[in-house]
Amino acid sequence: MNMANVSADIINHIKDHRSIREYSDQEVSDSDLTEILEAGLRASSSGNMQSYSIIVTKDKNLRRELYPHHFNQEMVLEAPMLLTFCADFNRMKKWLTQSHAPQNFDNFMSFMIASIDAVLASQNCALAAESLGLGICYMGTTLANAQKVGEVLNLPKHVVPIVGFSLGHPLHFEEKKDRLPLKGIVHFEKYQDYTDDEIQEIYKDREEKGMKRYRSVIDLKKKIESGDIQNLAQVYTKIKYTKESHEEFSRNLAHYLLEQGFLN
Ligand SMILES: Cc1cc2nc3c(=O)[nH]c(=O)nc-3n(C[C@H](O)[C@H](O)[C@H](O)COP(=O)(O)O)c2cc1C
Repeated sequence: MNMANVSADIINHIKDHRSIREYSDQEVSDSDLTEILEAGLRASSSGNMQSYSIIVTKDKNLRRELYPHHFNQEMVLEAPMLLTFCADFNRMKKWLTQSHAPQNFDNFMSFMIASIDAVLASQNCALAAESLGLGICYMGTTLANAQKVGEVLNLPKHVVPIVGFSLGHPLHFEEKKDRLPLKGIVHFEKYQDYTDDEIQEIYKDREEKGMKRYRSVIDLKKKIESGDIQNLAQVYTKIKYTKESHEEFSRNLAHYLLEQGFLN
C-alpha cells in the first residue's frame, strides 16, 4: 500500500466535503453503516470513557415525530436515516454504581466532556460516510430542541442529544461552499486580535458569495430588496440566528441540562 496515496486520498475526501440535503431512494447497506459506526468509535475520547451514544433512526414514524422538532427540514423524512450523537454518562454511571465507585459525572464539566466526545465521534462517522460515497447534513435543531428530540428518542437522565445528521446516498452534489481564509482563522504562537481592515478582508469573499446565495432564496430576496437586510451579517443576525431565538434555545437547554442531571 502506498501511504502517500492513502493520505492524499483521505485529505482530498475531507476537502471535498459539502452538506447533502437531498437523497436518492437507495438504502444505506448494513455493512456501510457498520463501517461508519465503527469509524465513529475510533475517535479520541476523554479518558477513553466514550461518554456518548449514537442513535440510528430509520423508522419513518419516529422520524415523523422528530420532524417538527427539526423545524420541518425535509431531509429528516427523505434521508434513509438520521444519526443522533448524545452526550451520555448514563451508561458509565451504571457501571460506576455496579463497581461501588463514586459518582463524579453529574456536573457541567462532565456535560462538556461528553459533548466533545459525541462531536468527535460524529465527525469521524461523517468522514467515513463521505469516503464511502454517502452524504450527510448536520442539523443544529438537535441541540436547539434537545429536550423535544430527547423525549422522542427516549433519552434517560444523564443523556443529552448534541449533534445529529441525515445520512444517505446523495441525489446530487452541490457546489462546495466557501470557507474563510486560513489567515483569518489561524494564529501562530499567540492570538493576534483583528484590525477593522483585516475583518473586512477576511469576510470579503463570504459577503459576496453568501449574499449571492441568499438572494436566490425567494423570501430573503424580497427582504434584501426592500432594504430590511443590507448585508450578510444582518442575514445571520436578523433572520437566521435572532437574539430572541438564541436566548430562548439557551434557556431551554439550561433547563434541560438541569433536568438531565448535568448541573450539580
Ligand atoms: C452543528 C451544525 C448544525 C447545522 N445545522 C444545519 C441545519 O439545521 N440545517 C441545514 O440545512 N444545515 C445545517 N448545517 C450545515 C451547515 O449549514 C453547513 O455545514 C455550512 O453551511 C457549510 O456548508 P457545507 O457543509 O456544505 O460545506 C449544520 C452544520 C453544523 C456543523
